[in-house]
Amino acid sequence: MNSKIYDLLCCPETGEQLSLKNNELSCNESTYPILNDIPWLFKNPEQAFLEWASKIQTYFKLEESQLNEIYNSNKNEVNALTAQRVELILKARKTNLEDMYSRLKIFTEVQAIDTVPDTQQIHSYFDLVFRDWIPENKELLSYIEYIQGLLTTKVQNVLILGSGAGGLSYNLAKSNSHVNFVSFEHNPYLSFLSHDLISGRDARLYQYTNHPSSITQTAREYLLRNDEESKIVNHQNILGTFPDLPFRKKSFDLVIAPWFLDIIDFNLSDSLNIISQFLSSNGTLAFYGPANFHKKDIFDQYCREEIIDIFESKFEITNTTNGSVSYLYSAQKSQQRIEEILFTSCSKFKNIPNKGLNVEPKKIIYSAKLDAYKQKINTFSKILKHINSDMTLEELAKRLELEFDFNKKESLHYAGIFYKMILEGSLDS
Ligand SMILES: C[S@@+](CC[C@H](N)C(=O)[O-])C[C@H]1O[C@@H](n2cnc3c(N)ncnc32)[C@H](O)[C@@H]1O
Repeated sequence: MNSKIYDLLCCPETGEQLSLKNNELSCNESTYPILNDIPWLFKNPEQAFLEWASKIQTYFKLEESQLNEIYNSNKNEVNALTAQRVELILKARKTNLEDMYSRLKIFTEVQAIDTVPDTQQIHSYFDLVFRDWIPENKELLSYIEYIQGLLTTKVQNVLILGSGAGGLSYNLAKSNSHVNFVSFEHNPYLSFLSHDLISGRDARLYQYTNHPSSITQTAREYLLRNDEESKIVNHQNILGTFPDLPFRKKSFDLVIAPWFLDIIDFNLSDSLNIISQFLSSNGTLAFYGPANFHKKDIFDQYCREEIIDIFESKFEITNTTNGSVSYLYSAQKSQQRIEEILFTSCSKFKNIPNKGLNVEPKKIIYSAKLDAYKQKINTFSKILKHINSDMTLEELAKRLELEFDFNKKESLHYAGIFYKMILEGSLDS
């Protein structure tokens, strides 16, 4: 590990400096492993490992069973072109799954635990890999150009939050050998893969789409690799989770939050308070991402003016420009997503008295919506407890007759509705 970067690492719980011994980082309170050369700096390292192991094992099980289901479905009734498209997708998904298996093997060797449903899964953001590693991607080039303009000669240490597949980190590290770059990410697959690619190892993956512009565009194999002859020594991946940043306070001259502030579970104001603690006295925070935040809470669904207003309320200097990108564009897809985006850089945090972060659990309001949700879950669980192996609709209907006091006709009707919901994936919501 680059010794200058290693000096910046602190315990995410207590903030104490970490020391390296026997391939582990430790302080008085805790010990953190280093996995594939990447420090595992989650606040509760064992729990975080088991949580990711559960997500990973669940994903493997689901993906395998879906692939088997498609593979074993009756092909006789399928149109030849459809069969060809499905065949291409099967091959792509199988190859990508094997890549994940090989990189994430250590997570399959432990007993999974129950976790609560989470929007952040191991396969989330998989498409970033192609945007970041297929050379000359216009979207990535526009981001590199913007950040490169902020890398003045005074900048020594740079932190990239939610670094994803690592394309930005790699390109910046390659062109700025005098600067130290730290990529912070919570997804082990993205972090391991980007570490391998940055270190000169390659990856063979398929980019595929469920909505191709033609059959032949359904899936395309790529050999992804970096284009550098010499080893990149001014970059380090770190695994951990925002807001528990495992770094010495005030140590970064530039913190980049690319497409990040809009997707984390914190509102913008709290996130800026947290990040500002890690900026050096003349440090800059750079954000680029959507000009509208798609958050659940209506009070956090900011548009452009609100986002800029919050940045300006926190920092003395804020510069913003507007842009538009074709987000994760691929010629393979029949559709593209044009996003209005903001490029914002700000410095000189105003040091507003800290009211404390709104990260403590809030009061649960027993609203009509929560009550409806509870009833839905209760009903589903009363039905699902009877399904533990394959069964016919009539068999399920018989159980529902007893469970809900239905008559024969009603129970068959509801068994049919429930089966339809399973097929349509309505249980996801
Ligand atoms: C929308 S993607 C953006 C990725 C990349 N920065 C880019 O511009 O394409 C958000 C990234 O943040 C990561 N992420 C989400 N929540 C996180 C958290 N709490 N801590 C660390 N990383 C997180 C995701 O795994 C993902 O790689």
